[in-house]
Amino acid sequence: MSRHLLGIRQLDREDIAELLQTAMEFKRRVLEADFVPQPLNRVVGLLFFEGSTRTRVSFEQAAHYLGYRVTNFAAQGSSMSKGETLKDTILTLRHERLDALVMRHRCSGAPTFAARYFGGPVVNAGDGQHEHPTQALGDALTILERKGRLEGLNVAIVGDVSHSRVARSNAWLLAKMGASVRLVGPKTLMPNNMSKLPGSVYYDLSAGIEDCDVVICLRLQRERMDEGLLSSVNEYRRQYQINRQTLRYAAPDCLVMHPGPINRGVEMDDPAADGDNSAITRQIENGIFVRMATLHWVFQSNAGQPAAGTVAPVKKAKEKVSTVQSKVKVAKKASAAASHAKTAKKKAK
Ligand code: NCD
Repeated sequence: MSRHLLGIRQLDREDIAELLQTAMEFKRRVLEADFVPQPLNRVVGLLFFEGSTRTRVSFEQAAHYLGYRVTNFAAQGSSMSKGETLKDTILTLRHERLDALVMRHRCSGAPTFAARYFGGPVVNAGDGQHEHPTQALGDALTILERKGRLEGLNVAIVGDVSHSRVARSNAWLLAKMGASVRLVGPKTLMPNNMSKLPGSVYYDLSAGIEDCDVVICLRLQRERMDEGLLSSVNEYRRQYQINRQTLRYAAPDCLVMHPGPINRGVEMDDPAADGDNSAITRQIENGIFVRMATLHWVFQSNAGQPAAGTVAPVKKAKEKVSTVQSKVKVAKKASAAASHAKTAKKKAK
């Protein structure tokens, strides 16, 4: 059976800690130009049915550092433009001998559907308003590096929660790892069924970010919005913009984050986006390492088994994958953040 990463909701603390710890180890290796294992001649299909800069490029970079090849699929110019169904496209890619799929789609659940037919690992790179698990992992790694822990932190996720898969994956991950999550935004931009998401809801920005250690600001997703959800962008800006003034309510060293792309001057102003407390560029860079960890993790469970119709060099795969595992375990130079992830892992047991 293939292992997929379709959402954070299905993961337990131990999985999350393992993924973060592996990401830290890959980061150390890439930054120190240490050996990064290149286990197999694997080909990863990147299927982006929606626009992307960060996520797509960081998956490409992750695959590059791991020694995998990628093949890009664009719906436009493919047989889908001739009416081929998603199911037939996925089956086609399976028989084109791709080993894994990374998929972004405007419909919630599309990667789960693909996982049913593909026969190898599928990674969700953002589906509709559902989940964006690798973004949440990158954000968690960034918080760990800057704050040294996740447990016990107050984290406010501010803005268009309703349309945001980033908000959902982050809320699940942070709550599972012991942070206290607040969802802040106008009533019209909060999901209807809030009881399904972990976190307390605030409609007032100053109360919502009061004494927060981290503020994750969300993009106003106007492309997904029905008419009338916002009376005006100006009003939204007045009530919910993250800027120097509103950040006075948060803790003085509050980390400011945004998954990008930013509507500068709308949900966040320039000084907040570019100031010393901003971790936005770090989030982008960490996206590479959590995606390396994710690709490694999904392949781990079926290392040695032919994925998606390919014939894998079984022995080689097993040897090299176990080398990474043991190296990750015995990594002596683990950072303070890494030791926190280990503690979380122990606690979860
Ligand atoms: C987000 C996405 O696509 O879900 N961006 C990203 O992946 N970095 C957030 C957004 O589009 O606002």
